[in-house]
Amino acid sequence: KLADLRGLQSGTLQLAVVTTAKYFIPHLIGDFYEQHPQLDIRFRVGNRRQIIERTAEDEDDFYVFSHPPDNPDLELVEFLPNRLLAIAPEKHPLAGRTGVPLEEFAQCPFLRREEGSGTRHAIERFLQRQGIELNVRMTIESNEAIKHAVMSGLGVSILSEHTLSFGGSAGLAILDVQELPIETRWYLARRRSRPLSPAAREFLDYARRLGEAPLESGLGLPPQ
Ligand code: PGA
Repeated sequence: KLADLRGLQSGTLQLAVVTTAKYFIPHLIGDFYEQHPQLDIRFRVGNRRQIIERTAEDEDDFYVFSHPPDNPDLELVEFLPNRLLAIAPEKHPLAGRTGVPLEEFAQCPFLRREEGSGTRHAIERFLQRQGIELNVRMTIESNEAIKHAVMSGLGVSILSEHTLSFGGSAGLAILDVQELPIETRWYLARRRSRPLSPAAREFLDYARRLGEAPLESGLGLPPQ
């Protein structure tokens, strides 16, 4: 018990999260850190593929995905929903229309994420099920850059609502497209075989409690 306490006072906690989770995980860490200010917390951000690679190397205590790999070595805790919304520039002809057919949206020049992105993976899986192909104009390796490219009129896209709520969305319209948004959610993952340090155990308990409670409150997330 005493050793645990010491571990908690001087331990490290390593997290690696996908890009869409980088907005809300810091809020979660903020509350946790207040209770454990001595901890050395390391926080990394990457796309889905990069984070999967880190799980394979057993690099971190925890990982956050919205599309966790199908890997029985990982234990998952469910978090709040992460909806992927269709966006266009404010003056786009589809902006303000209701029930836009997915086929019509898919014809617009589309800005997509790079290969390895979980956002792209979710969009492709969804469209494949619908039997629809996108009209891809450009591949861009960042949610923020896509958002700004859409604002500047380069095309339309589908991004996590959390990407849109943070950092401003002036000049953007969220489109009402049939079958959208794509409903996903975040998961906290850890390798079952990795020994839980006192700090990791504490964080896991904390995350489980949050996973059971509605996360929107208290995390600094804007209302939906
Ligand atoms: P990514 O993250 O698109 O940066 O991989 C998204 C996710 O998996 O939600």
